[in-house]
Amino acid sequence: MLVMGIESSCDETACAIVSDQKEVLSSVVWSQYDEHRRFGGVVPEIAARAHLEKCDMLIREALDKSGKTFSDLSAIAVAGGPGLIGGVLVGVMTAKSIALCHNLPFVAVNHLEGHALTVRLSHPVSFPYLLLLTSGGHCQILIVKGVGQYEKLGATIDDSAGEAFDKVAKMLNIGYPGGPNLEKRAGQGDALKFAFPVPMKGRPGCDFSFSGLKTSVRTCIEKHAPLSEQDKSDICASFQSAVIKQMQDRLTHAIRVFKERYPEAQDLVVAGGVAANKSVRSMIQTLAEKNNLIFSAPPIGLCTDNGVMIAWAGLERFRLGLTSSLDFRARPRWPLDTL
Ligand code: KG4
Ligand code: ZN
Repeated sequence: MLVMGIESSCDETACAIVSDQKEVLSSVVWSQYDEHRRFGGVVPEIAARAHLEKCDMLIREALDKSGKTFSDLSAIAVAGGPGLIGGVLVGVMTAKSIALCHNLPFVAVNHLEGHALTVRLSHPVSFPYLLLLTSGGHCQILIVKGVGQYEKLGATIDDSAGEAFDKVAKMLNIGYPGGPNLEKRAGQGDALKFAFPVPMKGRPGCDFSFSGLKTSVRTCIEKHAPLSEQDKSDICASFQSAVIKQMQDRLTHAIRVFKERYPEAQDLVVAGGVAANKSVRSMIQTLAEKNNLIFSAPPIGLCTDNGVMIAWAGLERFRLGLTSSLDFRARPRWPLDTL
């Protein structure tokens, strides 16, 4: 069984082909960093146009690299939302056209479900598992009970973690994309230099909040201006440490709930763009060990947006008979717990 996946919901145009034997036959990603860099963030109209320009070429490249043709595919999957609607529409219309022309089943995949299920391609993780899904658009803790079956234990009440990374990086003027640059600078800084608050720490439940932390960083930057390069690295390290402390506190609550409900379950997973952060991964690994859980995360290259996650989630859906109709409408909002 071979499934092609197309991703175009934010600032990466991507296409991949995966098999039910968990092989990635090809994976191509076109990041639009150059298009958005001078604006310091993603501009939706520019993103949509760039997806339109690159999508066909990437699909051709994915086919060529895999040595397959459309007739070898079992189904075509696409991120149907949530995301920037212009980009999602480009992917959805392209995938529908391919489905129609080549008589292939069409699978509209929720982008978040793509992040949530990718770990099952790389690791032997079975349902139910506890998931921290942390990306540019979302930060939530879910129990993944099965394909299409998600229970949200908590979510951010304001910004996502990825957004906080990106905004702090922008304030410090350390380059775009923010998250990876901030992680690099944090590696050269002293996390104890600035005592940023850890919002939500000690509160019941599993919700997150990052906007107060962002404001404290802004105040700190103003107070210490002009900043030396070392100050900037110290702020990065201190900020990253505050984010991680909050994740640790929220996950500790979630693990308690998860273990009460599913005493036999054993997997703790992190996914989404921020899961590419090595300090985030290592905190969760330690937390898993302390709680007798097995830590798993997709390989770093499959944490940020890619085509493999859509192809894999599409394959998981397709083999359960969960295909979509060609009148599926692209969805800018599409909460995982309403699938
Ligand atoms: O999943 P993703 O590629 O796109 C969305 O679905 O939103 O996540 C992108 C987010 C961005 O906010 C980016 O700054 C963040 O993930 N990110 C990171 C790292 N790599 C990407 N944040 C922290 N550390 C990283 N290494
Ligand atoms: Zn994503």
